[in-house]
Amino acid sequence: MRIRIFDSSQEAGTYVSALAEEVVLSRSQPVLGLATGSTPVPFYDALVNLWMCGLDLSKVVTINLDEYIGISSEHPQSYHHFMREHLFDRVDFESGNIYLPHGDAPDLDAECRRYDDVIARHPIDFQILGIGTNGHIGFNEPDDLLLARTHIVELRPETVASNARFFDDPREVPRRAITMGVQAILQAEQIVLMAFGFEKAAIVARAVLGSVRTDVPASILQLHRKVTVVLDRQAAADLLGQHPELRLSLS
Ligand code: GLP
Repeated sequence: MRIRIFDSSQEAGTYVSALAEEVVLSRSQPVLGLATGSTPVPFYDALVNLWMCGLDLSKVVTINLDEYIGISSEHPQSYHHFMREHLFDRVDFESGNIYLPHGDAPDLDAECRRYDDVIARHPIDFQILGIGTNGHIGFNEPDDLLLARTHIVELRPETVASNARFFDDPREVPRRAITMGVQAILQAEQIVLMAFGFEKAAIVARAVLGSVRTDVPASILQLHRKVTVVLDRQAAADLLGQHPELRLSLS
């Protein structure tokens, strides 16, 4: 794993956008795997800036990790809405090249199979990930096992509690979601895991330095050959505490 630690999430986002640009320029139809949450926002801002500076994104295919079940894709807290607001409405992606799972599909099992088919037809070149404070990636929650394929998941109480900050009415906070499985994530050619803030420091250290365990889903990334972990100094605090030599290479 490559680890890069920045003074601010803005600088980190700019770095990740440069990594994405390399991928976009080197493929005829680049496939970006995209994530939601506050963490990737600086990356999306930087990518929009690159687009405004001349980067052509019109051939890019995007595949999102996950979506809530129980709210419509028009709901302001849906991941469809989030992606429109932070990226899709700001650049010139082809609407036919944008894929998200539909949490409001009438047949959710069929929707899972449809999404696996989308992923199979568009192997992911560059996968962006955030990390939950419990170690989840996408909505692959800590459990006795991790599922390979797109599936429906009951969100863990800590995830529901953490997501509640975005909802006016706590009764509206979704308890279930549809998420890409770990196979699609691990099959991405390149993965960038981003994390910012002290509240991510402990789980980042466990994911990067600890054993590979299904109750720390992000630790499975240790098995992938091209992962970059992009942090701010707060999220890197425990890593640096356990590996002071990292600090030397940063000064
Ligand atoms: C949600 C998403 C994850 C994301 C996590 C962290 O649970 N499904 O993909 O990594 O939130 O969110 P944040 O980046 O706001 O800390």
